[in-house]
Amino acid sequence: MCGIVGYVGDRNAFPILVNGLKRLEYRGYDSSGVALAQNGEITLYKKQGMVKAMEELALAGDTSGSTGIAHTRWATHGQPSDENAHPHVSNSGNLVLVHNGIIENYQALKELLQDNGFEFHSETDTEVLVNFIQYIQDQEDCKLKKAVRIALAQVIGAYAICIYDKNKPEEVVVAKLGSPLVIGLGVNEKFIGSDATPFLEYTKDAIYLEDGEMATLTAEGELDIRLIQSDKAVNAQVHKLQMDLESIEKGGYDYFMMKEIYEQPRAIYDTFRGRLLPEQGMIKMSGLEEYADRFRNADRIIMTACGTSWHSALVAEYLFEEFARIPVEVEYGSEFRYRNPIIRKNDVVIAISQSGETADTLAAIKMAKEAGAMVFGICNVPGSTIARETHAGAYTHAGPEIGVASTKAFTSQVTVLTMMALELGKIRGEFSTSQYRALLNELSVIPKKVEKVLESKELVEEISALYKDANNALYLGRGVNFPIALEGALKLKEISYIHAEGYPAAEMKHGPIALIDENMPVIVVAPNAGHYEKLVSNVQEVKARHGKVIAVVTEGDTEVVQSADHVIEIPETLEALTPLLTVIPLQLLSYYIAVMRGCDVDRPRNLAKSVTVE
Ligand code: G6P
Repeated sequence: MCGIVGYVGDRNAFPILVNGLKRLEYRGYDSSGVALAQNGEITLYKKQGMVKAMEELALAGDTSGSTGIAHTRWATHGQPSDENAHPHVSNSGNLVLVHNGIIENYQALKELLQDNGFEFHSETDTEVLVNFIQYIQDQEDCKLKKAVRIALAQVIGAYAICIYDKNKPEEVVVAKLGSPLVIGLGVNEKFIGSDATPFLEYTKDAIYLEDGEMATLTAEGELDIRLIQSDKAVNAQVHKLQMDLESIEKGGYDYFMMKEIYEQPRAIYDTFRGRLLPEQGMIKMSGLEEYADRFRNADRIIMTACGTSWHSALVAEYLFEEFARIPVEVEYGSEFRYRNPIIRKNDVVIAISQSGETADTLAAIKMAKEAGAMVFGICNVPGSTIARETHAGAYTHAGPEIGVASTKAFTSQVTVLTMMALELGKIRGEFSTSQYRALLNELSVIPKKVEKVLESKELVEEISALYKDANNALYLGRGVNFPIALEGALKLKEISYIHAEGYPAAEMKHGPIALIDENMPVIVVAPNAGHYEKLVSNVQEVKARHGKVIAVVTEGDTEVVQSADHVIEIPETLEALTPLLTVIPLQLLSYYIAVMRGCDVDRPRNLAKSVTVE
């Protein structure tokens, strides 16, 4: 996590750096800082808290300078504080560095440096790294880029770094292993970002640095990209960015999260546009076609993901098993990577990630590839590491998602996975043409139905006002809507800090039922689908213990409606597609409750959107 921005050129660097940091706050916002090159000196502003706090501090001082590096932090080594904020300066006062990642052998390096007289003023591994580079430079009496190369060859861990020397600020050195780093190429200027958003308005030409590469940047000169280990020059590919500025701005909404909830009809549509062809009765997904045989002959599908993406995998487990009749296992990336999983050559691994950068998911992919499995990626961010590391894949096309709590990325992932389940069912000859066509047709009208669900906004807001002070909440669902209960609970926890649990409704009687009293809101996902009658009984069990039931039901519901305290309706749809509708009121509920509790829904405490550390 953490966000890095850098600039070298002829403009004033500070506004570019600060705006860039604000766009990268999704990566962490425990503290931020900026280092500006001013007349042979390093001017440093660092502050705990959001970028705005640091910006105010800096604006009271001198913010001139046309080279600068900046950082927004998600704390790993050392608590959030001004001292631990990046950038960090070496003891000599010459080198200044920002870093995203974790230096695992920092303790050993620190001891070596301490033995050589170095002193430390923070608890960070980053301060160790900048001093280690300084130490190498002193020993070798060499240029900065050589010192960086030699130092990084001895570093164990993950990093994206950006460093310059105050005596030569026109040259910035960057390097990457495991954490993302993008270079923007302008005319007489270069930009650096953890993603491309910091420099979107200045250039659309970008180079994604690969793992094990470093680059030396000057405003006007050619980029010098080399392999860290061998110093061999690399010919990097220049990408044309497709993103525009509008898509990463709030567009009149109070929070990105609300904007993104409202973008879901469009995001789902964009996800299936050109792929779902109901009139021709077919689905066209090039990534899938390319590996059709592997999928057809797969003995098993392993899905791996984290957080909300893991919930979309759980939805898909039901759909793949139902339609394609392939056994599916769903694994947290973090668990999968550290046990000794059985991966066979005929297994297909599907990795799901909004950001395409999640460290645990990425590690799971690498492991699966080494074991010979074909790995299919489902990512939202074009050009992201996971998109590049997988054999084939499908983008979700939800557009940039900025709010830390994932919404439109989730429904887009479920859309892609639903299409895959249908297509695999067809390829494997598992279901009838009429069933396939009915699902295709219905999926094509889901965006309209999502719009309809969004009309329940005021109702959800009223319900939220009644439960905003709850300390706990229970979410229940069955079948394909059980993962939606998990997702609803996660959303509430993430942004409102209310303790919430998601459970398969029938499991309630094995534990959570003990928690139910008149203060406990129980959110029941109860569309008119497979297990409806069972859910009716579960609702009654909650009511018998005086719990308050908020039910998500299908229009025209006659039974749950009788015992629930509040009902929110979704339009009628096929059971397999209900998750795309039932999740929407749960997103709205957590949003309103969080806003009413005064929480910053886009930047919930302790969280980050892109988790690039394990
Ligand atoms: C973080 C985010 C979640 C996200 C998860 C996985 O925890 O806060 O919203 O679901 O990472 O991220 P990914 O980018 O891999 O989907």
